Order: sequence, then structure tokens, then C-alpha cells
Amino acid sequence: MKFSEYMGEWLYGENGYYSSYKEIGKGGDFYTAVSTSKFFGGTIAKHIISLVDEGFLSKDGVICEIGAHHGYFLADVCEFIYTLRPELLKSLQFSIIERFDNLQEFQAQYFKDSFGDVVNLVHYKSLKELKCKNAFFIANEIFDAFPCELYYKGKTAEVLEHNVEFTMDDEWVSSKAKKYHKDRGEIAVGYEEFAKEMANSAESFEFMSFDYGEMQARPDFSLRVYKEHKVLPFFIPKDEADYIARDELFAKTDITYDVTFAHIKDAYEEAGVKFIELKAQMVALVDMGILNLLEMLKEKADQKIYEQELQKAKILIMPDYLGERFKMIRFRK
Ligand SMILES: C[S@@+](CC[C@H](N)C(=O)[O-])C[C@H]1O[C@@H](n2cnc3c(N)ncnc32)[C@H](O)[C@@H]1O
Repeated sequence: MKFSEYMGEWLYGENGYYSSYKEIGKGGDFYTAVSTSKFFGGTIAKHIISLVDEGFLSKDGVICEIGAHHGYFLADVCEFIYTLRPELLKSLQFSIIERFDNLQEFQAQYFKDSFGDVVNLVHYKSLKELKCKNAFFIANEIFDAFPCELYYKGKTAEVLEHNVEFTMDDEWVSSKAKKYHKDRGEIAVGYEEFAKEMANSAESFEFMSFDYGEMQARPDFSLRVYKEHKVLPFFIPKDEADYIARDELFAKTDITYDVTFAHIKDAYEEAGVKFIELKAQMVALVDMGILNLLEMLKEKADQKIYEQELQKAKILIMPDYLGERFKMIRFRK
């Protein structure tokens, strides 16, 4: 089978990593910015309010998270909207695109426990089901979870019993590899369709997404597996101390790779959506006002709580940690 099918089974198959309920954060296999600090969602709330004030987003517009997992990010957004502009919590329409029923149930319960009937959360299985006038879409680390093909010097990989062999000729993969100057590496599958679905779902929108990668990712393999906070390269030689056979890792661990943002940008532009910017996550969060939010906390909360939250939020905006390696990409239609 093609590598994209293998990776699709690994993550989204019947017993795939994301198909069954998984813990992200301290107890899980990896951290994301969401599990690091509530001020990540808080900063997005501040940005949403600025979109309303600017007149780009209507007061009854749709706020939609894609790939929300537990729903903590969108819930943090709601919590800060409640603090900063409570009337918007009732008027905006909150929704999540989540393909898995068990995660939809978890998210619905979490929202019910957190907000009672104040927030009316609507679920969709895919963007194809959503049709609206005006929206703000937000996503964290979803593009690195799209299945990919593997390319090496003109050939595309196929997988037989967990072994990867570069034997196939695939014109589409080769043309993308050429376009993004890779003689080897990952070529994501599905960005084009996803961008089209989003473009068709709302008459006007802003889409903001955070992911790990570069405009032009390195021409090399970055494919890796996360197991209990340890990173294992996918192509790890059998004689290395860390070696674990792939059939043991399959579907039980997270598999991911560096995002080529130029590929996402092209997919959205082809779908008629305007690229606005790509910048480091730390710059994006500072530009959107994370420091003002921390300043507000300093004035309102006691010193100990402020210090605790500051330490967590710092991780998001420190150059050598999540801040620089992660990027924010933004589009508008
Ligand atoms: C690395 S997890 C990130 C989860 C969460 N956003 C966070 O930051 O903790 C990737 C998530 O993206 C979701 N995902 C990947 N491709 C998707 C797609 N095309 N549509 C919706 N969700 C998708 C997966 O199901 C998974 O929940």
C-alpha cells in the first residue's frame, strides 16, 4: 500500500492512534501549546474580539475549531471571551469539526460542565457539513497529522508489512517534490481538498493555524514517532539502542513530520483564499496581545497565581522552545 494509506491506518484506522480516545499533555505521548497554557486560547479570544471590533467578524459569526481533540483550546477561548467581552459568548456560534464520535461526546460533556447552557456547541464531522456566512477557523497542530507520501530521488514509497520501499512512480508526488525542492522527504496528502472544503463552507472567513515547520521544510525526512514524550525517528537503524520494531509502534504512538507551509499556502491560494502571513508562534502571540493579558492577570490575581501562569505562558513565547519552532499561518476570504 501507499505510505499515505499506511499512515492513515496508523492514525485514523479502526484501532488507530486518534480513533480511540487518547490523552494529550502530561499523561499522554506529547504536549501541544494547548496543554501548555490557557493563555494560548486566551490570546485567540483577544484576537477574535479585535476581528469583531474591526468589522471583519459579525457578532453572530461562527467560531470553529478543527481537530480539537479534547476541546480544551476552544474552551479556553470561550473562558477568555467571557472575561473580556461576555456578551459575545452568547451571540457567537461555537462549533468543532471532529470526525470521531467518542471525542465529540467528550468535548460536548466538557463544554456542558464548563459553561452549562451559556455556550451552544455544534459539532460537524467534516467541513463539508458546515455552510455559513462568516467564520473564524482555528486549528492547532492538524497539518502535521495529515497522511503523507514519502519520496526519495524520483521514487515514491510503498509499504509491505511495515517495510518501506521506494519503488513506485507517482507523478503527483514527484511534481510536488520538485515544486518544494525536495529530493527526499514527506509530501502531505489532503491539503488541497481541505482548503477547498473550507473555502466552500463560509462566504467570508479568517483561518489561523499553528504548526511545526518552515515555509520550505528541509529536503530530508523528518518523520518521527512520539511515545511517552520520547521522540523516535521513523527511519531508525535496527542496531540503535532506541530501536523499536514498527509493528509495535503502529497505531499505538503518534506519527508526525515537519510541515511545508508553502504547500498549505499553495493549496489555499488554489482554492481562492488569500494568504495573509506566516510568522513564528511567539511573534504572533505577542502581536495578538498575550503580554497585555498577562498584565491584566497581574493586576487582578494574587502574585502566586500570576507567577505560575507566567511561567507556563513563557514556554509559548520563548525563542528556544515552542515559540520559535512553531509557526502561525493565516488566511482570509
Ligand atoms: C496533534 S493532534 C492536535 C490536537 C489538538 N488540536 C491539540 O492541539 O492538542 C492532531 C489532531 O488533528 C486532527 N485532524 C487531522 N486531520 C484532520 C482533518 N482533516 N480534519 C479534522 N481534524 C483533523 C486529528 O484527528 C487530531 O485530533
